Amino acid sequence: MPTETKVIVYYGPLTWFEQLVGKKKKKEGLLEAVFARDERLRQLRVVLPDQDDTAAENTAHRKRPKRLVAESGDYASLQEHAITNFPGLVQAQNPRELHLHNPPEQVHEHLRRIFPRGFQVLRYEYPSVTRRTLVQFRDEFAQHLVGQENVKESLLAALYPLTRETRTKPVVVMLYGPSGVGKTETAQFLNGLLGGTLMRKQFSMFHNEKFASYLFGGGHAESSFAHDLLDRESGVVLLAEFDKAASVFHSAFYQFFDGGVFQDKNYRVDVGRSLIVCTSNYGSEKGIQDALGDALFSRFDALIKFEPLSNHGITAVIDRLVEGRFETLEADEREAVNATKVKEMMYRLGARASNVRKLGKITDELISTLLVRAVLDQDPTTTPLTTTSSGPTVHGGATL
Ligand SMILES: Nc1ncnc2c1ncn2[C@@H]1O[C@H](COP(=O)(O)OP(=O)(O)OP(=O)(O)O)[C@@H](O)[C@H]1O
Ligand SMILES: [Mg+2]
Repeated sequence: MPTETKVIVYYGPLTWFEQLVGKKKKKEGLLEAVFARDERLRQLRVVLPDQDDTAAENTAHRKRPKRLVAESGDYASLQEHAITNFPGLVQAQNPRELHLHNPPEQVHEHLRRIFPRGFQVLRYEYPSVTRRTLVQFRDEFAQHLVGQENVKESLLAALYPLTRETRTKPVVVMLYGPSGVGKTETAQFLNGLLGGTLMRKQFSMFHNEKFASYLFGGGHAESSFAHDLLDRESGVVLLAEFDKAASVFHSAFYQFFDGGVFQDKNYRVDVGRSLIVCTSNYGSEKGIQDALGDALFSRFDALIKFEPLSNHGITAVIDRLVEGRFETLEADEREAVNATKVKEMMYRLGARASNVRKLGKITDELISTLLVRAVLDQDPTTTPLTTTSSGPTVHGGATL
C-alpha cells in the first residue's frame, strides 16, 4: 500500500519558506500539477477495439510525485470549490510530500483530518523586542529623531513587557500628534532594530466596501488583512491613520489587540509577542477616545503623544536636512552654493513649517533653485560645467 501523503504547513514570510523548501520549481508546483491534470481530463480520447491503449495505461501508472509545493499567493488561482475540496485535489495528485505556505484555515483543518499521520506545522519565529533592543532604541533614538524625548521614555516603558519570554500577546501603542513629526519614522526605526520589511497599512486608503472584505474576508482570492499578517516579515505592524477606520470595523480589532489573534472568513493568524503601532493625527487622547470609542480606546497599552517641534528642534532638523542633502551633491555643485547660507535661508522659511516632511521638500526646492541660478549664471564659454575623466574638458553650452 502506498504511504500516506506527508503534509507540512508553513506559516511565515515567503523568503523563509523559500529558504526551507528551496525556490519552487515548475515541476513541483501544486498549481501546475492541478492544471495539468484538469487539462488531461478535458481531453476526449477515442480508442478503437483492436487498438491497444498504451497512452491510457501510461496515465494510469503516472509516477507518484515526490513532492508538491504551494506558496501563499497560489491559492488565489484556485476556484472556490477546489479550496473546499482541497484533500480531494491532493489525493488526485497523491504526492509523497505536500508543502503548503500560509494556506487558508479551511485547507489546514481539512488536511489535518484526512492526512493525520504525517501532518506537521512549522511557524516562523518573528524577531521580538529584547533588552538589547531597548538599549539600542534608547541610545540611537537621537540619531533618528530630533526632540520627542518624552516619546523615547514612554515607548521604552511600553515596550518593556515584550522583553519577557513568557509573554504571548502583543503590545499595542497609539502614536498621535501632528503630521510630519516622526511617528512613522519611530516605527521604522524600531522595526529596523528588529529586522524585516515593516508591514504597513494605511487605513485611510480603503473605501468602506473594500475595507469590509479586507478585514472580514471575502472570496479566498481577495486580499485580506489576516493573509497579509501571515505573509509579513516584520515584528512590528504599523496601522497608519487608524482613527480613519469607520466604527463598524472597530470590533474586528478587539480580539487582535487583546491576544494577537486575527481571524477572517478564510485565514487565521496569531501575531503573538509583536508590537502593533497605530498612528493618528489627533492632538489629544480625548479626540482619539471620541473617534474610536471606549472599547477600542481602552485596549491600547499606551498612548504616546508627539509634540510639534520647538524652534530649537526646527533649527536642528534644518541643519541635518541641509547637511544630508549636501552630501549627495556633486563637488562642483557643492562649490556653487553655500551650506551656511542655505541653512540661514531655511531658518527663516522653516519658522512657518514644523512639518519635517515639508521642511525636507522646501530644502530640496531651495537648493535646486540656488543651483540652477548659480550654474546658469556661470559663463558657459569660460567655466567648465563638467569634465570627462579621459578626454579634454567639456564645456557647457553646445557640446553638452
Ligand atoms: N523629529 C524628527 N526628527 C528628524 N526627522 C524627522 C522628525 N520627524 C519627522 N522627521 C522626518 O520627516 C519625514 C516625515 O516623518 P514621519 O513620516 O515620521 O511623519 P509622521 O509623524 O508619521 O506624519 P503623518 O502623521 O503625516 O504620517 C521623515 O523623513 C522623517 O525622517
Ligand atoms: Mg506617518
